[in-house]
Amino acid sequence: MDSSFISRLPQALVVIASLINVITAQTSNEALWPLQTYKSSSIQTPYMNVTKMGQTEPGHLFFTPHDILRETGHPTIYSDDGQLVWQGASGNYSGLQPQMLNGEPVIAYWSGYAGEGFGFGHISILNSSYDEIHRVTLSCQEQNFVTVYNPMTFDSCIDIHESQITENGTILVTAVNVTRADLSSIGGEKDGWIQDGLIYEIDIATNEIMFRWSAHNHIDQVPLADVRAPLEGSGGSGVNSTYPYGYPHLNAIYKYGDDYLVSSRYMCSVFFIAQNGTVIWHLHGRTGGDFTLGLGTSFCYQHDVRFESQSPERVTLTMHNNDNTEFTGHTSLTTGLVLNVELQGSKEVTLVGRTWDAAEPVYAESQGSYQSLGNGHVLQDHGATPKIEEYDENGTIVMRARFGYDNTMQTYRTYRYPWVGRPSTKPDVVACPTKGGKTAVYVSWNGATDVGSWKVTSGSKINHTALRNGFETTILVAGLSDGDSVAAEAVGGVGDGTRSQSVTVGQGC
Ligand SMILES: *[C@@H]1O[C@H](CO)[C@@H](O)[C@H](O)[C@H]1NC(C)=O
Ligand SMILES: *[C@@H]1O[C@H](CO)[C@@H](O)[C@H](O)[C@H]1NC(C)=O
Ligand SMILES: *[C@@H]1O[C@H](CO)[C@@H](O)[C@H](O)[C@H]1NC(C)=O
Ligand SMILES: *[C@@H]1O[C@H](CO)[C@@H](O)[C@H](O)[C@H]1NC(C)=O
Ligand SMILES: *[C@@H]1O[C@H](CO)[C@@H](O)[C@H](O)[C@H]1NC(C)=O
Ligand SMILES: *[C@@H]1O[C@H](CO)[C@@H](O)[C@H](O)[C@H]1NC(C)=O
Ligand SMILES: *[C@@H]1O[C@H](CO)[C@@H](O)[C@H](O)[C@H]1NC(C)=O
Ligand SMILES: *[C@@H]1O[C@H](CO)[C@@H](O)[C@H](O)[C@H]1NC(C)=O
Ligand SMILES: *[C@@H]1O[C@H](CO)[C@@H](O)[C@H](O)[C@H]1NC(C)=O
Repeated sequence: MDSSFISRLPQALVVIASLINVITAQTSNEALWPLQTYKSSSIQTPYMNVTKMGQTEPGHLFFTPHDILRETGHPTIYSDDGQLVWQGASGNYSGLQPQMLNGEPVIAYWSGYAGEGFGFGHISILNSSYDEIHRVTLSCQEQNFVTVYNPMTFDSCIDIHESQITENGTILVTAVNVTRADLSSIGGEKDGWIQDGLIYEIDIATNEIMFRWSAHNHIDQVPLADVRAPLEGSGGSGVNSTYPYGYPHLNAIYKYGDDYLVSSRYMCSVFFIAQNGTVIWHLHGRTGGDFTLGLGTSFCYQHDVRFESQSPERVTLTMHNNDNTEFTGHTSLTTGLVLNVELQGSKEVTLVGRTWDAAEPVYAESQGSYQSLGNGHVLQDHGATPKIEEYDENGTIVMRARFGYDNTMQTYRTYRYPWVGRPSTKPDVVACPTKGGKTAVYVSWNGATDVGSWKVTSGSKINHTALRNGFETTILVAGLSDGDSVAAEAVGGVGDGTRSQSVTVGQGC
């Protein structure tokens, strides 16, 4: 994540009169993206504009919209039609992803202090009731972390960029430590400073550190000369500990067997690292590194690198290829990239596939993700360009979803997964008289995914069932008056029969 987002003026605000419950706000001369609001809940969330051109894969959208102008962010789940499903508490978040932990579906995300392209925080792991069942931390004090902030006041020094759970109940995270390095080979100070990139594998149940790797400790195999960020403009020139040089800016980690796949944004590089810390191979997106780049395989400043397949002979890599940063400007087309890498013999890199939205191309400056879905589909997110795309197996775009104007709203990554939410709260209800003499009963249940319909009752007076319609369902009923008591009950799904508190008609409207 990079910090210089508000570099361009937001586009003109388009307000569609027919959008119900969408509010727009205006501060001075800056246009704010509309928020969706509700009667039965105080939740406000970015309006999502979904356009579908084909069949999408099943599942909800998991992301962390951060409103840069309003300075607020949330972990959120949306359904495929752009309706909110769940919103957590406000703060700084990244990397929200449903995963399996010891056979149980959980969601994991980072939260904490988000600073100059990196952060200091912890990983929350929630069960399907949205209760925090684990909090993974990395003690700044015990690990002797040095940060750009002096004095440093953080408890946990986990960085924003990764929160990948392994099959063995551990989690992979990144961290940034300010340390000294000789920058003279790249024209900097001999006694310079860098933002060393660290990988930690931490046992979730015990918080025990299972693996630690530092790029700086392996600087002979992770060379400074391969960094593409200039000494100025990468967060720092390295002259002092307040302005450390942006080496190596790690942003994606995955474990395959005993080895670690590591993406370095500012080195335009992918490293495969053995358990003993040795670099097994290095793919550089501009020079090739250990490999020879074939036609159309160049990449840089990439995000979310994963293996799609792996064998001793070759790997297939997927990534979100930004090819832009705050110091390059945003002139290169951003694409999803699938590369075949021959590990033996020819050592050639060949292009397997590339996905982009030709009608609405993106030149993403920071962040982003690439997820391989079922049936050959791909979900792409563009970070500081708040746009999510889905492509089919032929690379044809089937969904476009916007949740903000460029550089006013962002999410580090977005994932699509099936999910069954079992909120431990009760449904929320408010009942308001309408001009027509009826009562509008508004019902929502933050986090519920599979309610079929809502049954509204008022003693023996009313017994009315209506199909659930999005985050909040509005049910018009006759025969109620001010002071009557109303409740709603979920019908269908895992929360079948769960009743709200009784509310009084006319209160809280
Ligand atoms: C939603 O997207 C459609 C299609 O791109 C566009 O015509 C419309 O103006 C958008 N609405 C808003 C509120 O941005
Ligand atoms: C979020 O990060 C900002 C710095 O960008 C910090 O000022 C703020 O305190 C953080 N919020 C939380 C809840 O940690
Ligand atoms: C989630 O965790 C809470 C607190 O431990 C527990 O009460 C609840 O039953 C759990 N929900 C599920 C679905 O496991
Ligand atoms: C961070 O760097 C300092 C030196 O600047 C060193 O003493 C400390 O051990 C390092 N911590 C980590 C977590 O690498
Ligand atoms: C660090 O270097 C920057 C850039 O030269 C300078 O503005 C700043 O005052 C220095 N800070 C300290 C603590 O020396
Ligand atoms: C999980 O543990 C097994 C047994 O020790 C090991 O073979 C496997 O490589 C581990 N997987 C990961 C991702 O750590
Ligand atoms: C580290 O592991 C790699 C791969 O298993 C091996 O080739 C190498 O010899 C090991 N290096 C050391 C110093 O043990
Ligand atoms: C993808 O292309 C193949 C071959 O042209 C075609 O048979 C198939 O229907 C296409 N899939 C979609 C979803 O259009
Ligand atoms: C509401 O009607 C259904 C059948 O339509 C019935 O099963 C249920 O008992 C009624 N509930 C109340 C509170 O009257």
